Amino acid sequence: MTNTTKTQPGGDVRLAGISKTYGSFTAVHPLDLTIPQGSFFALLGASGCGKTTTLRMIAGLEEPSGGTVHLGDQDVTALPPYKRPVNTVFQSYALFPHLDIFENVAFGLRRRGIKSVKKQVEEMLDLVQLGEQARKKPHQLSGGQQQRVAVARALINHPKVLLLDEPLGALDLKLRRQMQLELKRIQTEVGITFVHVTHDQEEAMTMADRVAVMNAGRVEQLGAPADLYENPQTTFVANFLGTSNLIQAEVDSRSGDDVVVRAAGDKLLLPASRCAVPAQAGGKVLVGVRPEKVGLTHADEAGSIPEGRNRITGRIGNSSFIGVSTQYVVDCAACPDFEVYAQNIDRDARLVPGADVVLHWNPAHTFGLDAAQDIDAGVAEGEAA
Ligand SMILES: Nc1ncnc2c1ncn2[C@@H]1O[C@H](COP(=O)(O)OP(=O)(O)OP(=O)(O)O)[C@@H](O)[C@H]1O
Ligand SMILES: [Mg+2]
Repeated sequence: MTNTTKTQPGGDVRLAGISKTYGSFTAVHPLDLTIPQGSFFALLGASGCGKTTTLRMIAGLEEPSGGTVHLGDQDVTALPPYKRPVNTVFQSYALFPHLDIFENVAFGLRRRGIKSVKKQVEEMLDLVQLGEQARKKPHQLSGGQQQRVAVARALINHPKVLLLDEPLGALDLKLRRQMQLELKRIQTEVGITFVHVTHDQEEAMTMADRVAVMNAGRVEQLGAPADLYENPQTTFVANFLGTSNLIQAEVDSRSGDDVVVRAAGDKLLLPASRCAVPAQAGGKVLVGVRPEKVGLTHADEAGSIPEGRNRITGRIGNSSFIGVSTQYVVDCAACPDFEVYAQNIDRDARLVPGADVVLHWNPAHTFGLDAAQDIDAGVAEGEAA
């Protein structure tokens, strides 16, 4: 997405050095962020990391301690919420209980004194697939239907940006999954910018084109979901987004495009281009690999593992069969709880707790992180989410 020019309507949301402090506590550190026009953008992070505060500063509901908010060319920092071309949908979507669905959606138009609302309201109800429910009261709808009414009620004002703060938080898991797809469809159809706050990494990855991973009032990393997953730059992102096996290693030497590292006597290859820090011989680095990238072979069959793969030895500590895959926890000298997710294709019956195994993977799937960080950053938060 290119930067906006004066001729374009709407435009990107640009936060420049925006921050929020409460007394001596900093909820949001000075933050620069551009949210491209028309994108589905997610702010993802654990509870208390500053997501809602950031969203409320975009909406004008919270006054920033510093910095500016631009919408396209317009500096909206000093504008009150109702003068910004922005609408918010909250977790508690607070529909008007005494009004029917039609009138709930019509509310924004009526407030602006618009008399003939029928066509627009019907279009909106069709968009969220509630045309049949127009004359029901909110309490006669399911949670997911009520959520869609809240979205329709916000969209009827034709905001340039729709802000959504944990809009699916009150729904059960199955309904959440449905609504994630539904919101994504609506966003694609209307084409306006959605900024979606969530602490659920799967939700952010399913819905968003771009995700900003927040931690303690800062954006740790920003990118497309697959890019964040495959190329985490910090231990927090590696652990918060899915699961990573992180191994403490020492840089040995350089071999072509790869860095050779040593971990508990094993020699591993790491593409230099996938190392987030410069790798100097003798220096420390954290070597990471995702659980689904790793093969698990019984030690007796080690000879069958193709040449050129990274390999470490260990003993299976735990295995859980979950249908499509089996998840193993393997105790290795280099990494005490190495996780491996193996698809259930041909299961080797010998792969049970206590078995000696070799773990092996394509070196291209290895990433390298700064060893000065907390190796467990984001682990608990990721699980809680
Ligand atoms: N009015 C306030 N006064 C003091 N501290 C506040 C205030 N509002 C928020 N905070 C603090 O700022 C931090 C960020 O809050 P925020 O609501 O943005 O978190 P969040 O990422 O949305 O979390 P959650 O996922 O739980 O909603 C928290 O530590 C919170 O306690
Ligand atoms: Mg919040």
